[in-house]
Amino acid sequence: MSRTLEPGKLLIASHNAGKVREIGELVRPHGMEVVSAAELDLPEPEETGTTFAENALIKAHAGAEGCGIVALADDSGLCVEALGGAPGVYTADWAEADTFEGGPGRDWYMAMGKVEGKLSELGPDTDRSAYFACTLALAWPDGHSEIFEGRAPGSLTWPPRGILGFGYDPVFVPEGRNQTFAEIDPAEKHAISHRADAFAKMMKAVF
Ligand code: IMP
Repeated sequence: MSRTLEPGKLLIASHNAGKVREIGELVRPHGMEVVSAAELDLPEPEETGTTFAENALIKAHAGAEGCGIVALADDSGLCVEALGGAPGVYTADWAEADTFEGGPGRDWYMAMGKVEGKLSELGPDTDRSAYFACTLALAWPDGHSEIFEGRAPGSLTWPPRGILGFGYDPVFVPEGRNQTFAEIDPAEKHAISHRADAFAKMMKAVF
């Protein structure tokens, strides 16, 4: 049985304005007033965990301790079955590039190519199943925490298709569909995504 989230302030332990806005819209009807880590100028802790849950907990606990209110954090990534779950928690790291658009940054096309390269090394009959994972962590100032895990199952296609979404969306075809996440209307993607799955579990458990 999860601990209930009482109406009041909720810290979104993220510096991503888009995430903060989306989460705010979801929790506001339950009497929560959202503040963000960026608004409070909280430092971003280093994500040193080896699982999504560890990283989400690091961010949520750092937020709750830093400002004394309940904090929510998430961690997500792409897991490829034939690669033993890689890139997994290192999903964003696989896109790190020194020379992207003239300087350091994230090159998602390079990252998608890296995944495809590793799959093709395994041969033409390799299992192309993959899933996006999202873990949400809620941490209370007294040290209590709750974890909610969501998944979007699917498979990888090549070459990349579509211009919507972000990250690895152009190579990910969700189960039961022919289009990639980057070809699907964003509202539709948000209804079937790993993030939606994790949020639905959290909303059911804590409100
Ligand atoms: P983080 O949880 O913000 O650290 O994100 C991890 C990485 O996973 C992101 O930078 C994206 O590359 C990838 N990722 C997470 N969710 C999605 C998604 O819905 N579509 C495409 N890529 C995603």
